[in-house]
Amino acid sequence: MYISIEKAVEFLKAGEVVAVPTETVYGLAASIEHPEAIKRVYQLKGRPSSNPLIIHVSNATEINKYVTELPDGFSLLADAFWPGPLTLVLPANIDTVPEIVRAGLQTAAFRVPRHLLARQLLSLTGPLVMPSANLSGTPSATLVAHVEQDFGSNFPVLEGASCAIGLESTILVHTHGKWQIIRQGALAARDFEENLGYQPHVSGPESYTAPLCPGQLFRHYAPKAKLILRKEFSMAHGEIILGFSDKKYPEGNRVINLGISSNPSEIAEKLYKTLRSLDDNHISSALVDIDLPKTGLYLTILERLYKAAAGLD
Ligand code: TXA
Ligand code: MG
Repeated sequence: MYISIEKAVEFLKAGEVVAVPTETVYGLAASIEHPEAIKRVYQLKGRPSSNPLIIHVSNATEINKYVTELPDGFSLLADAFWPGPLTLVLPANIDTVPEIVRAGLQTAAFRVPRHLLARQLLSLTGPLVMPSANLSGTPSATLVAHVEQDFGSNFPVLEGASCAIGLESTILVHTHGKWQIIRQGALAARDFEENLGYQPHVSGPESYTAPLCPGQLFRHYAPKAKLILRKEFSMAHGEIILGFSDKKYPEGNRVINLGISSNPSEIAEKLYKTLRSLDDNHISSALVDIDLPKTGLYLTILERLYKAAAGLD
């Protein structure tokens, strides 16, 4: 249910939870001042308490209260990419960042979103924690309809432009003197080269355990439909194929279009919508064309598809 910015401010200040559009995906917002609202965010999502939340602020200077130091290169990154789809994990001031936000870690994650209304809201409410507004493990919400699917049609959603990027922010942490990517996202490793002088290493499963990126441990972004990743379709018949409008697939299959294969931004924007639409249409399995370049934003798209297709173990 859409609400105005005035109502959203009122709800958040009263310790209630509100869904908020950002340029990446919808967030499920609670005020950092209201631990009971933050607890409710975990409950609503069915999120494990070991998976910490990102603190969103309207302006980089607001984080000073919540950190003990700013690692080398912090200003380069903040100046270049904030506001925007970048999250930085920093040493937390454990006296000011509630334990429930950090899931007990000594660090906290921060982002200044680019979405104008989200930032206007933040300037009126102060810092908000916002995980993606979806049930834990399912594709993130990029439309108000997705939020309502997961939390009910009466759930309050700030009315504003929906999510132009369609994939979550990229998360960086500074360890051993360098920044590394602990969650791939809307910004690719090569996007940081000009500012940092190097491409941050993209950490793999070895770093998914605390204190790096606990959230990466879990099966993620997954519809109920079984996804089968393929590069080759000559034997496919009678299948649903998530594919690309500029590619040819054998007759006798139904192709659901993820965009043009040469336009990764379009694929990103369509990805979660398409995964959710499989379930809406009661499709129980689909082949997914993963014959894409292994560069830039494609790497994030491929990572999401691998996670979405992973087994439940
Ligand atoms: O684009 C985004 O980042 C969206 C929008 C709403 O801002 N938010 C989002 O939040 O994707 P969420 O909770 O779905 O994912 C946050 C990820 C989780 O994988 C979590 O483990 C990680 O950030 N994270 C949060 N705090 C952390 C910390 N202190 N150290 C390491 N990872 C952290
Ligand atoms: Mg999420």
